[in-house]
Amino acid sequence: MKAKLSLIFFLMLCLFATGVQADKTDRLIRKANRYFAPLPQIMPGSENDTPERIELGRELYFDPRLSINDSQSCASCHPLGNGRGGMDNRPTSPGARGEFGDRNTPTVLNAGWQSSQFWDGRAKDLADQARQPILNPIEMGMPDEASVVNKLSAIPDYVDAFEKAFPEDASPLSYDNLAEAIAAFERTLRSESRFDDFMGGDKTALNAQEQSGLTLFIRHNCVRCHDGPLIGGTLLEKLGVSAEFHNTEDPGRFRVTGEEADRMVFKVASLRNVAITGPWFHDGSGKELSEVVKIMARIQLDTELKAQDADAITAFLHALTGKEFETAAAVSQ
Ligand code: HEC
Ligand code: HEC
Repeated sequence: MKAKLSLIFFLMLCLFATGVQADKTDRLIRKANRYFAPLPQIMPGSENDTPERIELGRELYFDPRLSINDSQSCASCHPLGNGRGGMDNRPTSPGARGEFGDRNTPTVLNAGWQSSQFWDGRAKDLADQARQPILNPIEMGMPDEASVVNKLSAIPDYVDAFEKAFPEDASPLSYDNLAEAIAAFERTLRSESRFDDFMGGDKTALNAQEQSGLTLFIRHNCVRCHDGPLIGGTLLEKLGVSAEFHNTEDPGRFRVTGEEADRMVFKVASLRNVAITGPWFHDGSGKELSEVVKIMARIQLDTELKAQDADAITAFLHALTGKEFETAAAVSQ
């Protein structure tokens, strides 16, 4: 009898504890929805993206003929497919002639939801961005817009594809339309994670450590900069608020505006897919994600994170990996 009673008592205790836990998770989901948002279905600007336009953009994206010596496409630095996360996992990337740029390649996945493109935000959207690497001497190295248009005009398949993608235009094969088609393709690069399921109310989508990492991410105020549907990607902020960043060679937005107030100002990186897009920081100097998390806490928030807390936040960041990569991510980082 006594044994039976204590068994019943024990079971009730378990039920109570589970209830408390469930309640805590409900609260965390509600709280997370105040700072973040599930990934929207459609990227801004995609209203006119016909299948023909997207297909043309895909061909251009993977075509090395957009470079001076037919050696390099957008996909050389931003590989897609086979578990690749839209960047090459190198600190910095070699261009068509083998020369290296000085900035780390960001991912193209989900990029169209950002308020601006590039580490210093110098392009306003994807189409504006796509015009630049083709003409950049240390990237794809084409001399000018006219040479690109002339080169593509000599390829009958492209003449045809541009006509189908831009049927209203008098001269469909233009540099503007090339940029627009590539942007249309990039607007299909939507990568959703378990975090979206959690935000939508699925309490089991994040494990206990990931939930605790999310709690700490909010509590330590990482959300001051990394918020919204991309957990970043919308603000330009100083890198090195409470202590200097370890590399001040690249002054960030100062290069664009020349204003002293913009020295070391960079775009707040989106943290979606961050676990599979290392090495990290604009200079590719961050080799371990948990170390990057500690540096962020130290230089942005004047906080020394305990190893255990940095690990929990890192686990949460892993839960932002696109579902399509979850198995690949476990292998690559
Ligand atoms: C040689 C390597 C290389 C090639 C080729 C290249 N990129 Fe990039 N891409 C980069 C680097 C490096 C940056 C960051 C540069 C900066 O911020 O100043 C970048 C930035 C971007 C961004 C901005 C992402 C963000 O989060 O701000 C997009 C989008 C992008 N590239 C798309 C493309 C497209 C489309 C092409 C082909 C037309 C292309 N890239 C060709 C290396 C490359
Ligand atoms: C004051 C704004 C601010 C705060 C607060 C902040 N960050 Fe950042 N974060 C940035 C900026 C800006 C970058 C871009 C760094 C660069 O240009 O190298 C960044 C980059 C990162 C990166 C690297 C992304 C990549 O792809 O290379 C990670 C990871 C990160 N932050 C995590 C955190 C965490 C975790 C916290 C809280 C402990 C935090 N951040 C707090 C502004 C902030």
